[in-house]
Amino acid sequence: MTEAGRQLLEASQVVTCSGGPVPRRGPAQSQIGLVEDGAVAIAAGRVEAVGPRDELRARFPQAERVNLSGHVLTPGLIDSHTHAVFGRWRLDEYEQRCAGVPYMEIARRGGGINASVRDLRERSAAELVELSRPRLRRLLEHGTTTVEVKSGYGLRSEDELKMLRVIQELAKESWIDLVPTFLGAHAIPPEYSDDRAGYVELVSEEMIPAVAASGLAVFCDVFMEPGAFTPEETARVLQAALAHRLVPRLHADEFESSGGAELAVRFGAASADHLGAVSEQGISALAGSATVATLLPGTLLFLGKSRYPPARALIDRGVAVALATDFNPGSSPTVNLQLVMSLACSVMHMSPAEALVAATANAAAALRLSDGRGTLEPGAPADLAAFRVPDYRMISYLYGSNHCVAVWKGGVRVV
Ligand code: NIG
Ligand code: FE
Repeated sequence: MTEAGRQLLEASQVVTCSGGPVPRRGPAQSQIGLVEDGAVAIAAGRVEAVGPRDELRARFPQAERVNLSGHVLTPGLIDSHTHAVFGRWRLDEYEQRCAGVPYMEIARRGGGINASVRDLRERSAAELVELSRPRLRRLLEHGTTTVEVKSGYGLRSEDELKMLRVIQELAKESWIDLVPTFLGAHAIPPEYSDDRAGYVELVSEEMIPAVAASGLAVFCDVFMEPGAFTPEETARVLQAALAHRLVPRLHADEFESSGGAELAVRFGAASADHLGAVSEQGISALAGSATVATLLPGTLLFLGKSRYPPARALIDRGVAVALATDFNPGSSPTVNLQLVMSLACSVMHMSPAEALVAATANAAAALRLSDGRGTLEPGAPADLAAFRVPDYRMISYLYGSNHCVAVWKGGVRVV
């Protein structure tokens, strides 16, 4: 690498989240590897070195310096749970919910996820790419450099594959990295409302083999919840997923406790998500497992719920906790992971440091990414976010705004 191609990003604080490609548990979840007056040397798309600014200046005297004084530099944020590909927004439902109709009641009346399904089935892949592109750009502008995106608004083979192709297309053209998840078991589509077993069979016997053969998804998710899929149906789908080498992850215990965390652990899921109503047994199961607990407090806030996941108990019992937006048109229309971090601190009593690790290193673990993403360690992809605040705690403290002012993806400044 020539000196000319090397950049030295110098910031008031550098948060490295170093510690290797392993989930951070318990006390390790608050170790953010803070360097005051720090710098990050990036070259050839990777992090080359991190340390005190003066040390790195002496080591790389010819590097092009980027002055970020008054800013905090962190690993690019990782949003490990979204439904970012969809057609229209669902403002009609939003008004109903504001008037007091519960989310699952709207779904029972044929709205909710199935409203997005009817809409998406009528749109072409090209149209969905157009609609999703600016949303991914907004994610990037909020500091997110890797995002998981689920299917689940098609609910028949051709439309689920269409969604996954849209994700692939967006991955090719966007700076932001996309991690694709198949979520055929998101809701029972209208044409199967009298034949649940038939739909579960379709997902397990037709969709999963087709998705696996296409190579368009890494993970397989299920919305396991009373009113969505039962534990038995979920087990059937995840069994098929494992047989076709898709890695399980699970919407678990979002509103009611139904053994979702336990089932996620039983299937070796990469992550159990939501957990607003996780039981004591569920916490114990997670504590003895490799499954990451991904918490989505933005969803519960937006749906007006008062019960939040027991983040403190999870962390104190040694569960690795990640945070994500759940970005979708029904239950969480935000792309702002910084706001989710604020909620984690204010309503779930996580520390600002724990929240930052949850949105970086532990989110990488929830997506089984082991290339150093979510950290600023030598060799990691040079994915970084700069926030216009002098102290990392202000990212969540000054809540509600977007503090991110610059983003590098693979060493290229993209925001
Ligand atoms: O995670 N819970 C199920 N799926 C999404 C909601 C998707 C939607 O309402 O369109 C969630 O909250
Ligand atoms: Fe979700």
